[in-house]
Amino acid sequence: MERLIWLFQFLLYFMQYHQVSCSSSISSFSTCTHHLCPHDQRFALLQFKHMFTINNSSDASLWCGDLASPKILSWNESCTDCCSWEGVTCDGLTGHVIGLDLSCSQLYGSIHPNSSLFQLSHLHHLNLAFNHFNYSHIPSAFGHFANLTHLNLSDSSFSGSIPSEICHLSRLVSLDLSYGRQLRLELHNFRMMLKNLTQLQELVLTAVNISSVVPMSLTNMSSLTYLDLRLTGLHGKLPDSIFHLSNLQILSLGDNYDLTGNLPKVNWSSSSSLQQLYLGSSSFSGELPDSIGYLKSLTSLDLSDCKFFGSIRDSLGNLTQITAIYLWANSLNGQIPFTLSNLNQLIRLDLSENNLDGKIPNFSGLHNLQTLHLHNNSLNGTLPSWLLNHSSLTDLELGSNRLTGQIPEFQHKSKLMNIDLSHNELHGPIPQSISNLVNLTQLVFSSNNLSGVVELQRFSNLKNLDYLDLSYNSLSVSAINNINITLPKLRFFYMASCKIKKFPDFFKALENVEQLDISNSEIHGNIPKWVGIIGKASLQYLNLSHNFLTGIKQLPWKNLVTLDLGFNLIQGPLPVPPPSVSCFLFSQNKLTGEIPSSICNVSSLYILDLSHNDLSGAIPQCLGYFSNVLFVLDLQFNAFQGNIPMIFRKGNQLQSLNLNGNQFEGPVPQSLANCRQLQALDLGNNKINDTFPYWLGTLPNLQVLILRSNNFHGPIDTSKPKLSFPELRIVDLSHNKFTGHLPGRYFEFFKAMTNKTMPNKRYLSVGSYGSYYKDSVKVTMKGFDIYLTRILPVFTAIDLSSNKFSGDIPNVIRRLNSLIVLNLSHNSLTGLIPSSLGDLTELESLDLSSNQLIGKIPNHLLSLTFLEVFNLSWNHLDGPIPRGKQFDTFGNDSYVGNLGLCGFPLSKKCEDNQAQVQPGVLLQHEDDSNFLSGLTWEVVVMGYAYGMALGLVIGFLMFLIGKPKLFVRIVEGKKHKKVKMLRQGGRRN
Ligand SMILES: *[C@@H]1O[C@H](CO)[C@@H](O)[C@H](O)[C@H]1NC(C)=O
Ligand SMILES: *[C@@H]1O[C@H](CO)[C@@H](O)[C@H](O)[C@H]1NC(C)=O
Repeated sequence: MERLIWLFQFLLYFMQYHQVSCSSSISSFSTCTHHLCPHDQRFALLQFKHMFTINNSSDASLWCGDLASPKILSWNESCTDCCSWEGVTCDGLTGHVIGLDLSCSQLYGSIHPNSSLFQLSHLHHLNLAFNHFNYSHIPSAFGHFANLTHLNLSDSSFSGSIPSEICHLSRLVSLDLSYGRQLRLELHNFRMMLKNLTQLQELVLTAVNISSVVPMSLTNMSSLTYLDLRLTGLHGKLPDSIFHLSNLQILSLGDNYDLTGNLPKVNWSSSSSLQQLYLGSSSFSGELPDSIGYLKSLTSLDLSDCKFFGSIRDSLGNLTQITAIYLWANSLNGQIPFTLSNLNQLIRLDLSENNLDGKIPNFSGLHNLQTLHLHNNSLNGTLPSWLLNHSSLTDLELGSNRLTGQIPEFQHKSKLMNIDLSHNELHGPIPQSISNLVNLTQLVFSSNNLSGVVELQRFSNLKNLDYLDLSYNSLSVSAINNINITLPKLRFFYMASCKIKKFPDFFKALENVEQLDISNSEIHGNIPKWVGIIGKASLQYLNLSHNFLTGIKQLPWKNLVTLDLGFNLIQGPLPVPPPSVSCFLFSQNKLTGEIPSSICNVSSLYILDLSHNDLSGAIPQCLGYFSNVLFVLDLQFNAFQGNIPMIFRKGNQLQSLNLNGNQFEGPVPQSLANCRQLQALDLGNNKINDTFPYWLGTLPNLQVLILRSNNFHGPIDTSKPKLSFPELRIVDLSHNKFTGHLPGRYFEFFKAMTNKTMPNKRYLSVGSYGSYYKDSVKVTMKGFDIYLTRILPVFTAIDLSSNKFSGDIPNVIRRLNSLIVLNLSHNSLTGLIPSSLGDLTELESLDLSSNQLIGKIPNHLLSLTFLEVFNLSWNHLDGPIPRGKQFDTFGNDSYVGNLGLCGFPLSKKCEDNQAQVQPGVLLQHEDDSNFLSGLTWEVVVMGYAYGMALGLVIGFLMFLIGKPKLFVRIVEGKKHKKVKMLRQGGRRN
């Protein structure tokens, strides 16, 4: 949003500038009697007029606002002096038309190559900005205006290449072709332009497609005062010397994501005329130089969303003219310099999404400060009381820091409208004085340690309140005596884990609420009938999960989109949600009976999660095709029976199908081959009777395949190499009756496990709805069944244990070099342990126990430096056990049942001729966290520092519409770590 405002300011600046420069020409505001206007030029203007219609609805004229006016309509044909026409300026002596300003004139139509416009050959100023020229090309005849000094065609819907003839306009002082989104500037024309247009002071090409490297000649343009090349696709390294153009006042190169460069370290004083510097959303990097403090004229500095690092320089405090500083989304660290408190003119300061620490400096003297965004840093200390007493501050975002202490009382004079203190370590009560903040629209205190009883009465003064989030504290919201509260504007209301015991009466007055979260509370019993009137027409999101609800009679909300009733005690048959619902979460309840086929009327369902209930019977056939948008269907852990009857139609969107833990019989339905989007298929723990469904190998996105504990049988057919499971990273075929050789051929083709390239980001990250769903798959690792909630894309596992596989372990397994878990135990494998297993350097768990393996343990396994679980027990291995760091951590259990093994940790000593080899220097990984270093989930898991004994990092997502929240649980040694809130998309622009 702020970015938009900024752009808007730019536009305004520009439009004003032009008006100023135009009116400084000699103009003749004469009446008709002067007859200055030469006949041919009057005629040309009239002809031009007739080429257009007036269209006041185009985007361009919307931008113009009050300035929009159809000037040409006033061109009066009976008045012969065209110099008096609106937008026309004539030379005082010769009468020639030298200026034409038709900006914001709502013109619609094409400009033809032979347009009469080009007969106005004396023009100095031509402004046609903010019209709609119907995507016609810019005629090369523009190059004929030999005396043109100002040309503005901004946002006027031209298309095609900018003609090279523009370069003939050697007197041009100002050229603006900005927001010609369909315009392209060829590199050689750009170079020519820079070479020929030596007088240029203003060059504005925003959003023109240039898509090339920055021409060096740009740095020769010493007359430039205003250069704007945002959104042009410029890339490569920007020459430093740009920053030394001594007349430059506005330099705007941001929104070119591949444009790199550094700020000059020395001699920046030469460009002290610089007023606005915008490099936001580009790849500029390096440290912020001290020399930035020389830019004494700077009023606006935007280096946000770049790659700057290091500290924020004290010298920034020298920029006494500055009104806005945006440095968000970089990697800045250190403290916020207290010198910023000198910046008396400062209105907006945004340093969010960096790694800043230390305390918040005292900005109480900044009497113009309105916006202070410091969220997503590591700031500590208590909340300074000046913050809450500040006389001009309206927008305060301090979420996701490490602020401690209590929230001080607010003063009457505070103008605060938005307060976000979420995800800190604040404690104590919510201050009484909150009720003084009558301007408040948004209040976010969630995820702190605030305590005490909150009487909702306290918020009853806040008539403008739109957004209130008190979730995840230790607060008790008191539900008594509050029937009189009305919060007429409240739309977003979150009170998760606020110890609410019953539905507060005042909910009846929440007429306009759109999102309501009272999950993780203590509400028992049936949902009362009156609850249906809460936001009857407005409610879109309702989260009642994690309570003790036992029954629900009706689901009356007409516009409900997401309904989460999971983790309650709701009994009886499944209620069918209103047809508007997209996301229906009902897991972990006590539902019984069959799924009514009327559920298939809810045809916009995205996510249906009925897992962990007692539903039974056959499932309706229509579940396979009732919704074209369904992407998650989770029925795991119920008591469904019979064949899997679903017919999946071509073109469906299903990404995750989980039928684990039921009693399904029969074969795998062949129509699953139509689920081209399928990423996770879990049919484990059923009674499915089939051979290996090799035909699933055609599914281009399948990443997880769980068939464990069924009656799958027969050899695995690998004769069709095209069906190669290109994205598979987790496969569990354990506890079946597969026979024959290990499917070595697949090991060659599991591409997703055979390279260490960046993992695929796409895993269940579909659209916004993906965020609500906690997709879980059970994986046995390290002896525990672990439910992976949202599998990390870097997690890879093969479990073929407890089958009847025979023969050797194929050498080709070495190709799966990003594998983390390999379990081949409880089969009838024979032969040696291939030394090539040592190439699987990412392995953390290797189980080959209970087979018929013979020979020695290969020393090459010493390269498995991440190995934490290692089991070779119950084979026929012999010889010395290798010695070395990782092997020194394994106990007897890893080797029992192999009578021929000797050496540490076994008590049996090796004979002299079979001494245990001590490895020399083994390459150690420098950093245990390598496991996660390739992590490119949208969500960055933080604080990974649990050493070698790394557990699975499990992303446990609890997103709410609008304000997503993320918790990451690290399941290892019962350490649970709550992680900073990350805003989805991260940015607010
Ligand atoms: C351009 O300006 C020059 C003087 O600077 C003048 O002599 C010439 O006639 C002008 N050309 C046109 C087409 O107006
Ligand atoms: C560049 O300017 C020179 C002299 O003004 C002119 O002769 C030449 O045609 C121009 N080049 C282009 C491509 O316009």
